[in-house]
Amino acid sequence: MDDRAFAAPEPAAGTAPALPMAVLAELTHRCPLQCPYCSNPVELEAASRELSTEDWQRVIGELAALGVLQIHFSGGEPLVRRDLVTLVAHADRAGLYTNLITSAVMFTRAKVAELAEAGLAHVQVSLQGASAPLAERIGGFRGGHAKKIEAAGWVREEGMALTLNAVMHRQNLDELPRIIDMAVEMGAQRLEVAHVQYYGWALKNRAALMPTLAQLDEATRIVEEGQARLAGVLAIDYVIPDYYAVRPKTCMGGWGRQFFNISPSGKVLPCHAAETITGLRFDSVREAPLAEIWQRSEALNLYRGTGWMQEPCRSCIHAEEDFGGCRCQAFALAGDAAATDPACAKSPLHARLFSLAGAEAEAGSDRFLYRNFSGGTPEG
Ligand code: FES
Repeated sequence: MDDRAFAAPEPAAGTAPALPMAVLAELTHRCPLQCPYCSNPVELEAASRELSTEDWQRVIGELAALGVLQIHFSGGEPLVRRDLVTLVAHADRAGLYTNLITSAVMFTRAKVAELAEAGLAHVQVSLQGASAPLAERIGGFRGGHAKKIEAAGWVREEGMALTLNAVMHRQNLDELPRIIDMAVEMGAQRLEVAHVQYYGWALKNRAALMPTLAQLDEATRIVEEGQARLAGVLAIDYVIPDYYAVRPKTCMGGWGRQFFNISPSGKVLPCHAAETITGLRFDSVREAPLAEIWQRSEALNLYRGTGWMQEPCRSCIHAEEDFGGCRCQAFALAGDAAATDPACAKSPLHARLFSLAGAEAEAGSDRFLYRNFSGGTPEG
């Protein structure tokens, strides 16, 4: 790549980025499921705006040249794309570690074999619950639960690594012990027990999803017991809901530091929710080489490092550990993406957040707004 062709300004002193490790390639926002906590933006990108097979192949080549190690094919549901096997094979040949993040409801036995043959190394299957009636109500898709269990078996038969991702909230936490048992029975190496994070669709559904503090404490106890009992059998990762946290999470490992997303239409985003921050301008892989975008993108440089921080983050001893927490959450709750993440106990909004979580959870409104291209459909 010829640096002289770059027109954008240099990043500010001290913020020059290291090489990115991994990319989330959101091939499409199309999905047969309608989960009310979907991480896609509320404004979904139409199929007509998706990158072509050739675009993605060029981008995958640029990722490998940039030093990216892992590509996570995601969506929406990436199996909607007819060229998924072609893209996986291309990424494997380019030397990238490949992971498929899927609901698994569109898998066929033949497709699993084709993906394994193409070099797919790892599959992450989402679980909405442990029982079919609840899981299918949450996902808004009938027949999906049994299909996931069957497809997970095919993944293991093909020798691919399997992770299960269980997004937890007030309406499915009672099924957590059974979900842990299912992960063992399905032959998963890893289970992610991830409480909902409240951006985009999940923020719209917060009142129907927020757990009570008692539920959270019980979930933590169950996870810790499972981690001890299943050591060497199943690794269990645990993400607690920010609203009940004391310290903020190191969101994305720090903004523009190790990871980035590419949206279905080619926008390069520091995280899946960054489009919720109004006023940011994102560069597109349609218009510039990835190496240039990684270095010079205005959006990626805005909250890179620690130079942008205000007090109390600026003088905090944890500034280099959590990089100020989540910028999207700061924007959603404080109205300023440069504010301290309200998940942090040092934020002036923290106490309000904590009591809001408790109040919404106790109110017990259970009705979902399902995610779809029409802006959401209320549960009937
Ligand atoms: Fe965007 Fe946390 S989700 S910074």
